[in-house]
Amino acid sequence: MSFIGGIDFRPLQSRISAQERAARCASPAFGHVFTEHMVSMSWSRELGWNKPELVPYGPLELDPATVGLHYGQVVFEGLKAFRTDDDRIFVFRPEAHARRFRRSAQRLMIPEFPDELFVRAVDALVYEDRAWIPDDPNVSLYLRPILFASEAALALRPAHEYRFLLMAFVTEGFFGQVPRPLTVWATTEYSRAATGGTGESKCAGNYAGTYLAQEQAAREGCDQVVWLDSVERRWVEELGGMNLFFVHGRGDRARLTTPPLTGTLLPGVTRDALLVLAADLGLAVTEEPITLDQWRRGCLDGEISEAFACGTAAGISSIGTVRTASGSWNVGDGAEGAVTAQLSRLLLGIRRGELPDPHHWMHPVGPAVAGRREQR
Ligand code: COI
Repeated sequence: MSFIGGIDFRPLQSRISAQERAARCASPAFGHVFTEHMVSMSWSRELGWNKPELVPYGPLELDPATVGLHYGQVVFEGLKAFRTDDDRIFVFRPEAHARRFRRSAQRLMIPEFPDELFVRAVDALVYEDRAWIPDDPNVSLYLRPILFASEAALALRPAHEYRFLLMAFVTEGFFGQVPRPLTVWATTEYSRAATGGTGESKCAGNYAGTYLAQEQAAREGCDQVVWLDSVERRWVEELGGMNLFFVHGRGDRARLTTPPLTGTLLPGVTRDALLVLAADLGLAVTEEPITLDQWRRGCLDGEISEAFACGTAAGISSIGTVRTASGSWNVGDGAEGAVTAQLSRLLLGIRRGELPDPHHWMHPVGPAVAGRREQR
């Protein structure tokens, strides 16, 4: 029995052999290879958050009138756990993800999930399923906490019952093992978020609303959609489910910009980390709006030398080509640029425990805290 933060998560027996696990993890595409367990908690008006437990990962029994299914009162997070070369396990910035989870919940009138409980749940699941985190530095454990309205009632009001689940899956990069520069499609037809809406919350509906545009992007031979503001359709906001950065100038004169958090953009934890890391490297960094036309002209006259997207799932992905209904252009020479590569190495190095972690972003899990070697 392990007591984590006063919560009793009982360890469970593993029913999957080491060979079976290795076979499932051989080529783990994003979102497919789930580990054996999950954390579950419930909320009611009488009890608040209650019944914390580690349970086998598996299907749920839901009433057809479950509020979350009908009215989308659902928020989630995405964070990652890594195994280091010397066999320690860390989670990247769980407290920052806990804060964003709480803010997303507030926006959808879901009872707040306390940050400490969030981190305890992460600790419990990662420790329980630690054997699933492979040694392969290109593979990590993606943690997916979700909060949904579980009351069976179709009155159009915030539900009176909620469920928290934390599951985990093993994953290589979001864009496969060997990422290549992305070709992106700037849509002026669809928009992701509007002022006063839910764009800065990580709620389920924000993602469902992107599929149609993503399908259009794929038809245009592109990997992802560039989202523009919903009013003027010219201010660049995000890329797919990721934040965007631009490198202006080169060498000693390079500076970094990213669109400001206007309320319609997701405040990315990776975005925040890169703002800090770039400043550590001595790069000038600003949160600065940019239009699609400024992006095009900047690339054509050489003022913009690189662009990249970032997020938990994707890490850092360089952008090689931008396509629009009225034409396309390359960013730099279309390949990953020097600043993108440098930031990418730095972020990966910190997450894999190969480089110092001056901002204490890596949260140790389980016996790693005591410096013990784990049995796998
Ligand atoms: C992430 O980057 O972790 C996301 O949540 C975006 C998407 C894969 C859902």
